[in-house]
Amino acid sequence: MDAAALADLALDIAREAGRLARTRREEGVAIAATKSALADIVTEADREVEALIRARLAAERPDDGFLGEESGAERGTSDITWVVDPIDGTVNYAYGMPHYAVSIAAVSGDPTPPTWTALAGVVHNPAVDETFHAIRGGGAWLGEHRLSASSVGEAGGLVATGFGYDPKHHAEDLARVAAVMPLLRDLRRAGAASLDLAYVAAGRLDGYFERGLHPWDHAAGGLLVAEAGGLITGAPGGAPGREMTIAAGPELFERLVATIGV
Ligand code: IPD
Ligand code: CA
Repeated sequence: MDAAALADLALDIAREAGRLARTRREEGVAIAATKSALADIVTEADREVEALIRARLAAERPDDGFLGEESGAERGTSDITWVVDPIDGTVNYAYGMPHYAVSIAAVSGDPTPPTWTALAGVVHNPAVDETFHAIRGGGAWLGEHRLSASSVGEAGGLVATGFGYDPKHHAEDLARVAAVMPLLRDLRRAGAASLDLAYVAAGRLDGYFERGLHPWDHAAGGLLVAEAGGLITGAPGGAPGREMTIAAGPELFERLVATIGV
């Protein structure tokens, strides 16, 4: 199966998963548990939506591996692993803010960010019915519209960040924001990393940086940025991930990397 066919499957499953997430949201959402920190929540809908995605992938691609935020990892026998966040932006979702997404990526090779190769990625926001997708070598798209990362003007970049859930990192996160602020027109903290990356691909943001991301937060969005002509990196010489993720169009990227110091 080629990357375009993997993207088609991911698009179909993400839309079905999005319909379920939206229906559950309309019915009312209750927090099911807290995870890594008090602020890190999961709802029944996160679990149910991941179960739907996992079951569809198992039915249609039984040899592939799976890595999901809510139900963990399982190695496959093919070269492909599906990296899934059923609801990215769970806090927005729980509070009724229409800024959350189903994120699904197909990666080949060892399914860890430093070594995987993302082949296809979908970030779908069911609340506003927007679907971003990327195909390795085939571009980044919002529906039929091909995406291209921005070039920044004189007023500086519009850049998003996030703070993760662990309060022990908040002081260093805020110090980083203070260091970056002089480069910016303004800062956003929208609450869904996959959408932050999709927005960089779409030129709706000029850049994005955050410490603490998990593979499912950036697998699909990272491919969107790269296929839109943007750049994405992690800590020194590394892949995007827990220590740092920085994404931007080419001009701002160098300045962000130099200021954040990776
Ligand atoms: C979170 C969101 C948030 C980011 C956190 C992520 P979740 O994912 O993407 O924007 O700041 O680091 O964990 O918990 O909503 O799936
Ligand atoms: Ca999530």
